[in-house]
Amino acid sequence: MEIIIRGEKSGERSTSEEILRQAYGRENEVQLASALRALAEFNPNLSIVAANGSEILGYALYARVMVSGSTVLPAAALAVMGVRPENRKLGVGERLVRHGLERCRGIKIDLVFASALPAFLARMGFQAAAPLGLKPDWAVPEGEFSVFDLSGSRLGKVSGTVTYPGPYHGS
Ligand SMILES: CC(C)(COP(=O)(O)OP(=O)(O)OC[C@H]1O[C@@H](n2cnc3c(N)ncnc32)[C@H](O)[C@@H]1OP(=O)(O)O)[C@@H](O)C(=O)NCCC(=O)NCCS
Repeated sequence: MEIIIRGEKSGERSTSEEILRQAYGRENEVQLASALRALAEFNPNLSIVAANGSEILGYALYARVMVSGSTVLPAAALAVMGVRPENRKLGVGERLVRHGLERCRGIKIDLVFASALPAFLARMGFQAAAPLGLKPDWAVPEGEFSVFDLSGSRLGKVSGTVTYPGPYHGS
């Protein structure tokens, strides 16, 4: 098996959605991803798959967010991620995160947020965001909000509210 992480191709969307449906066991995240895709600011480069040949094993989507505090800073957030149950614990999830971070770096983003899986993401260098003075503008459960600093120098200097796009607020 040779797994690569790459941008989702047109025609693969329904497979990505099926992976999300299976991973989360419900429609919410499928609908969230769909609503994020429909935004004008949607960046297809931040919609990535893990593939083994023609088979798609996993999917992740990063959304654009904004940090508003002493300064206003464009940022990104891991919005949804899923790996097929039969392909888990092979490092696919970790690679979807690491590759996604590099894509964010490629579009000059410094901070990447996440609202779930803090223990898993800590392995890749994410850290708790609340103690750094960064809080989301929607109800993320206590301790679940984390951040990765691609610049290596932003954290501790940037604080404020992380504004997520409309679909997180039911619009
Ligand atoms: C989370 C998920 C994407 C990880 O995919 P994966 O390809 O198995 O990830 P990796 O192989 O890189 O890492 C697996 C490790 O993460 C751990 N892990 C998985 N889910 C976890 C969780 N909720 N909390 C903490 N650790 C978790 C596994 O126990 C495993 O640990 P090990 O290496 O010590 O055995 C996958 O389990 C999944 O699709 N889960 C359902 C959907 C979900 O929770 N998505 C994330 C919300 S943004």
